[in-house]
Amino acid sequence: MADTKILLLGDASSDPLVKVLGRPGRSLTRVEDPEQLAKAGVDHDVIVLDAVPPPRSLADMCREVRAVPALSEVPVLAISSTDEVEERIRLLEAGADDVMIRPIDDRELDARVEALDLRHRRAKELHPSTLVSTTRRPGRRMVAVYSPKGGVGTTTVSVNLALAIAARTPDQIALVDLTPMGGNVATCLDLRPKLTIADLIRDSQGMVSPEILKTTYLARHEGGVLVLAGSPATTTHPLMPGDEASRIVEGVISAVPTVVVDLGSHLDDRVMAALDAADDIVIVVTPDFPALKAVHSFFEYLGEAGGKTSEPTVVVNEMYALQTLTPGDIETALGRRVAIRIPYDPLLYLRAANQGTPVFASAPTSQPARRYDQLAGILLGEDAPGSATEPRRRGLAGIFGRG
Ligand SMILES: Nc1ncnc2c1ncn2[C@@H]1O[C@H](COP(=O)(O)OP(=O)(O)OP(=O)(O)O)[C@@H](O)[C@H]1O
Ligand SMILES: [Mg+2]
Repeated sequence: MADTKILLLGDASSDPLVKVLGRPGRSLTRVEDPEQLAKAGVDHDVIVLDAVPPPRSLADMCREVRAVPALSEVPVLAISSTDEVEERIRLLEAGADDVMIRPIDDRELDARVEALDLRHRRAKELHPSTLVSTTRRPGRRMVAVYSPKGGVGTTTVSVNLALAIAARTPDQIALVDLTPMGGNVATCLDLRPKLTIADLIRDSQGMVSPEILKTTYLARHEGGVLVLAGSPATTTHPLMPGDEASRIVEGVISAVPTVVVDLGSHLDDRVMAALDAADDIVIVVTPDFPALKAVHSFFEYLGEAGGKTSEPTVVVNEMYALQTLTPGDIETALGRRVAIRIPYDPLLYLRAANQGTPVFASAPTSQPARRYDQLAGILLGEDAPGSATEPRRRGLAGIFGRG
């Protein structure tokens, strides 16, 4: 493997880091002047921000690095002097991928740099073979987000994806919570609409009227997303039949040109109807065997069901601090390309959950937000990458296959 190219912003006080960052297998470039960073940064694998000359703060520096297009994807390790959680969050929000607090332990620094480099290399291995589909309804696009396993981040992906699309076309995107019961899309966005999908089901006129939908059922989030809230947890309503799910989705898409639907994780008529109606199907999976197995079985089921549905876009949501499976392992296990990986980030998500502000809105330059933005770009067909042709890795070949 080629040397890991590390770029360090630091001064004489950074000398102790140099021993680790410049060890065999790594090549280190050290700059003292932030202005030099942008020029030197291109073609580096990891950027370490240690000593930032005033008046810039460390967070300013993270933001500046992220604002340079050529550096926007290079992992950044910020070395901070304070162990305050708020400062850590500030740095992550500003675009740092990892934060270490002084005093720095050599072995820990070594391990963190290694992990960042590996993560970055793996992300670069991805070549989503997305072909931009012509949509079923001209000028309109429906994206269904589903996972056959619960708790993997389907709602998180739906909400942040909708916000990323809204950043491009505000008020032209609706987010529909079609999860069976206790849908929490609205809660994630801190919205408390009076009417939910459970009311809409009983309003046959509202269901098909773009005007009524817009004025009565769709609640606007300040990020430019129009939200149809899910059934409350206390509803005694049975799961909606497939034809009602279709009618609701078709109604909303006649009112708003782009619709993202959170389908949750139960497989029933509602889900099948929505998948049939979708232009894009986003499947969320976590990097663990139970989730991979569930998705693999779901793909088999889709194949057996006759294949009316669109080719799924696989999103790996890294909900674990440790990465044990590579994208190659995951792709081999699923027999499909992974379009994007959403990085693990407990602090940003915890804050998002408690404040009702999704990561894309609260920390738009953070690594997770940038990945949601890329996912939106893939689905909307911006810079559609060509289909990748290199052979798949073999490691876990066939583990979920028949026989
Ligand atoms: N990449 C991540 N890193 C850390 N935490 C995450 C990540 N993705 C999601 N989470 C957190 O995991 C929790 C579950 O996410 P979410 O509600 O989106 O899952 P879900 O698949 O919709 O669950 P359910 O099946 O209950 O609908 C949330 O608290 C969310 O903030
Ligand atoms: Mg959910």
